This record gives sequence, C-alpha cells and structure tokens, in this order.
Amino acid sequence: MTVQTTENLLLVTGSIRGEDSASTRLATRLAERLAPGGYAHRDAASGLEMVDGEWLGAMATAPEARDARQAARAELAETLMDEVKAADTLVIAVPIYNFSPAAQIKTWFDQLARAGVAFKYSEAGPEGLLTGRKAWIVMTSNGTEEGSAIDFATPWVKHMLGFFGIEVAGVIAADRQAFDESSVDKALEQVEALPLAA
Ligand SMILES: Cc1cc2nc3c(=O)[nH]c(=O)nc-3n(C[C@H](O)[C@H](O)[C@H](O)COP(=O)(O)O)c2cc1C
Repeated sequence: MTVQTTENLLLVTGSIRGEDSASTRLATRLAERLAPGGYAHRDAASGLEMVDGEWLGAMATAPEARDARQAARAELAETLMDEVKAADTLVIAVPIYNFSPAAQIKTWFDQLARAGVAFKYSEAGPEGLLTGRKAWIVMTSNGTEEGSAIDFATPWVKHMLGFFGIEVAGVIAADRQAFDESSVDKALEQVEALPLAA
C-alpha cells in the first residue's frame, strides 16, 4: 500500500529537548517525505500557554467584548485551529514525559478542543468536526513500550484525533530507547521505507 504525498501538511512538535529531540527529528523527516514541496510547522514547546481561567474567559466572551489579553488568547487558539483546517495531513510528534504526552502536546490539543469547532455533541453522541484529515503519530520514549499498559500517550492521542474526526494514518514509534540503542534508527528506517505514491 502506498502513501500519498501532500501539499498541505502540518507538522506539530513539542519536545523540550531541543536539538536532542528524537520525536522532532523523526517527525520532521516524516513531514519532509510526505510533503516534499514544504509544510507548515507548529512547535507546541514555544509560545503556547496552558489553557486556564483566562483562556476559558476569553472563549466565553464575545470577540468585541474581549480585553487585549483575552483577544490575544483567543487569536492564538484561532490560529492553531486555522493551521489544522488548512492541512489534510498532520504529523504529530508525541514525546512521552511521565507516561503521558508531553504537556506541550496536551496543551496543543487543549487549545483545539472547542465545542462547535473541533467537535459537537448531538443526540447520536460526539461528532468530530475536523473530518477529511489524516494524522501520523510519532511517539518516542526511553522505557515505555508503545501500546503497552503503561503507554498513556499514544492511545490518548489516537482518542483525541478520533474525537475530532481525524483518521490515524499510522504510528511511528522510537520507544524503549534506554533498552534498544537502535530504536531511533529503526524508526527512521521505517520513515525512509514508507512507500510513497508516485
Ligand atoms: C521530563 C521527562 C520525562 C520523561 N518521562 C518518561 C517516561 O515516563 N517514560 C519513558 O519511557 N520515557 C520518559 N522520558 C524519556 C523520553 O520519552 C525520551 O527522551 C524521548 O526521546 C522523548 O522525546 P524527545 O526526544 O522528542 O523529547 C522522559 C523524558 C523527560 C525529559
């Protein structure tokens, strides 16, 4: 089965490890392969504030009634959503920190998860509003095996994507790096071996 390349890809990274980041390295390479003509990049580790009372207040306030701070908070949330809407393919780096997704990636999802925008509730239950998109998950860890009972990151990210109506295209895992020093290289090989449609 081949994988289609795209002109509308959003790469989302969130590592706090800068140049040493395995998830950034792998996800960036995957984005380069899937979108050879270029892609958008959102680094969730830079400039994203955690959702808090001020953020909630901003969202609950009509645009014309927001103060400057609320307006800035709402504007960023809108920008993050616009970036997703502009993409048909997402590559999401998911570093595992303390058995969960990096807080930076959690915050990115938190900013997007707005009723009426990312999802809605109907009599039939929750309905994702960001359909027509696919996402690749690039998961990295030192000890936590992807898909194991202590991996609270990958299933959570899959759930959030499904909740938004986004299809999971695949998972690339450089897990258990502390036990397998070739883990990142093997994941990179997987990325390089993805059969792209001509
Ligand atoms: C604050 C912190 C917490 C971590 N917690 C875990 C953990 O709970 N389980 C695990 O397997 N690895 C853990 N690690 C190791 C990272 O998952 C590993 O370094 C991985 O490569 C992170 O992705 P990154 O390189 O893109 O930052 C942790 C690393 C940091 C910096």
